[in-house]
Amino acid sequence: MEKRVAVRASRVSKEFRIDNERVNAVLKEVSFEAHYGEFVSILGISGSGKSTLLKCLSSLSLPTSGEVEVNGINPYQLSNSKLAKFRRGDISLIFQSYNLLPALPAIENVTLPLRLSHKKIDRKQIENKLKSC
Ligand SMILES: Nc1ncnc2c1ncn2[C@@H]1O[C@H](COP(=O)(O)OP(=O)(O)OP(=O)(O)O)[C@@H](O)[C@H]1O
Ligand SMILES: [Mg+2]
Repeated sequence: MEKRVAVRASRVSKEFRIDNERVNAVLKEVSFEAHYGEFVSILGISGSGKSTLLKCLSSLSLPTSGEVEVNGINPYQLSNSKLAKFRRGDISLIFQSYNLLPALPAIENVTLPLRLSHKKIDRKQIENKLKSC
């Protein structure tokens, strides 16, 4: 069966400027493809750039150079409204620091993206899934 690309990084580099003279070059021309149905792990010591790469892949951090593609879409070329739709529909991300909304109960944190996408919410099904976690 033909393997279709779900996520592609093409020579992605990311640098953070420290001051006028110094730059922290974290990602250096990272290229890879992940196909639909694959389970891919990114391994590396603390500070090696795993979160930085995920942020670049998931539309949250523009690479200094190179390109990313998710479901055939380069998120950095989208208008704000299309980018919001892309973030709701094309990617799922659990942040290292969770970034939950503390004012909302757990189930509302889970259902918020469904609400924003005008999708049907089956509270019973969600509660069962939360209980099984
Ligand atoms: N916004 C930022 N500004 C400046 N430097 C940053 C920024 N984000 C990350 N870095 C630097 O990039 C490098 C990689 O950080 P990153 O958080 O991607 O590593 P990591 O592999 O996810 O580490 P960990 O396993 O601890 O989560 C570190 O040197 C970090 O200090
Ligand atoms: Mg990290």
